[in-house]
Amino acid sequence: MSPVKCAVCVVVVALLWTGILAAEDVQVPCSFQDSCVLPCTFKPAAGVIIHWIQQRTDNIQVHSFYDNEDQLDYQDQRYLNRTSLYKDQISGGNASLQLTAVTFQDQGRYKCYIGTNQGNQETFIQLEVQAPVGKIDIQQVGNTTTCSSKGIYPQPVLTWSTDPPHNLTKQKPTVQQDQELFSISSSLVTSLNVNKTAFSCTVTAGKSRRTATLSQQATVSGEVNTVISIPCKASTSDLRGFKLTWSFNHSETILMRDFTETPSEVQVQDPWKQLVQGMSGSASLELQASSLQQEGIYTCELSDANKTHIIYTFLKLKPNEQKGEQRNPVQIIAPVIAVILLALIGLVIFIIIKRKGNRSENKRDSTSEEMASLSHVGNGRKPD
Ligand SMILES: *[C@@H]1O[C@H](CO)[C@@H](O)[C@H](O)[C@H]1NC(C)=O
Ligand SMILES: *[C@@H]1O[C@H](CO)[C@@H](O)[C@H](O)[C@H]1NC(C)=O
Ligand SMILES: *[C@@H]1O[C@H](CO)[C@@H](O)[C@H](O)[C@H]1NC(C)=O
Ligand SMILES: *[C@@H]1O[C@H](CO)[C@@H](O)[C@H](O)[C@H]1NC(C)=O
Ligand SMILES: *[C@@H]1O[C@H](CO)[C@@H](O)[C@H](O)[C@H]1NC(C)=O
Ligand SMILES: *[C@@H]1O[C@H](CO)[C@@H](O)[C@H](O)[C@H]1NC(C)=O
Ligand SMILES: *[C@@H]1O[C@H](CO)[C@@H](O)[C@H](O)[C@H]1NC(C)=O
Repeated sequence: MSPVKCAVCVVVVALLWTGILAAEDVQVPCSFQDSCVLPCTFKPAAGVIIHWIQQRTDNIQVHSFYDNEDQLDYQDQRYLNRTSLYKDQISGGNASLQLTAVTFQDQGRYKCYIGTNQGNQETFIQLEVQAPVGKIDIQQVGNTTTCSSKGIYPQPVLTWSTDPPHNLTKQKPTVQQDQELFSISSSLVTSLNVNKTAFSCTVTAGKSRRTATLSQQATVSGEVNTVISIPCKASTSDLRGFKLTWSFNHSETILMRDFTETPSEVQVQDPWKQLVQGMSGSASLELQASSLQQEGIYTCELSDANKTHIIYTFLKLKPNEQKGEQRNPVQIIAPVIAVILLALIGLVIFIIIKRKGNRSENKRDSTSEEMASLSHVGNGRKPD
């Protein structure tokens, strides 16, 4: 073997060695602001000393324990009141550290040093703080579809797709960072027929990923005072694990239903209680529209751990053609009362006008009499 090859061998071996060492670090993912446990175990023995150290540029004291009690005099201020050991389990060899209200500064490598009268050991943990992709907002106005999500860490990536597939013009999403958390949004303007295309937006950050899909269904037509069924045709047949929300005109929540529980619980918002009919096993909305006021856009939203489907349906209403039976009593009586009232008012006005007319006629007569007498006086003035 030539010296060059040997040198390569040494480098490779050294890389493997450090690689193995690095691979020994336990990776602990933790959500921003959550509580997390940094695991560390040892062979139970007497005379336990525990030092938890964060290894940044220099060693930072996180938590110490010896003489059977916590020793926090030298604890770094950043960890004040945020660390604890499982005291009753230390004698059993559990030196795991609980860290609360985790921040991004807590990220990095931690050393768990254990000393006992049997010897000592060091264990390393990599704490990785993340804020997984939560809710995605997706909406459509005209030919523009907008997708956004916030409170994410690490930096997210957003991608669009359509069904059926189309080549979409690449657009750069807007990314903002506020107090370390990222928000991302993107608007897609297309000349695709929005009524026949499903738009999907996927946000990925580290290991977390969510997809939101928006589509429009054919308009549903119905008559006032009949039961109308608005379907929610998501590309999922199995509703288990989904949460359903129906809303009206993009603002008013109609009902929420949780299919993650059996039997699924339905919560109908107050003004809609009279209108929503019994829920079937499906996600569709059974509605008895009481007036043309219920015409508008109905949105069905189905969400599980990884994805959200949003479906818009326009409900077109026309007045009920059948007269009589189907009308409620108020609707029949109201016009009758109105006619009678109008007739009465008319009569009263007529009488008033008539009386007034008579009176002013009398008045006019007396005035003309006065005028006549005045002119009479005038005429009768004798010249000097
Ligand atoms: C140590 O004890 C805590 C509390 O009971 C437990 O959550 C944790 O899993 C234990 N750690 C190990 C490594 O056994
Ligand atoms: C830590 O806890 C102590 C006692 O519970 C309290 O007096 C102190 O204000 C706390 N400090 C912080 C920074 O929360
Ligand atoms: C999208 O564009 C690529 C090349 O830019 C082309 O090969 C492909 O056929 C196009 N796909 C569609 C669905 O138009
Ligand atoms: C939206 O797309 C349609 C084609 O599907 C096009 O006819 C229409 O002009 C577009 N509207 C706007 C506001 O761009
Ligand atoms: C899409 O449907 C809505 C009503 O559901 C309609 O007003 C609109 O004209 C339709 N757009 C296209 C491009 O077909
Ligand atoms: C709901 O939206 C439709 C169409 O956008 C509109 O015509 C209707 O007035 C709205 N209804 C209410 C009660 O806001
Ligand atoms: C969500 O995605 C994860 C990873 O891709 C997968 O393991 C999990 O089963 C998915 N959950 C649901 C409810 O689809």
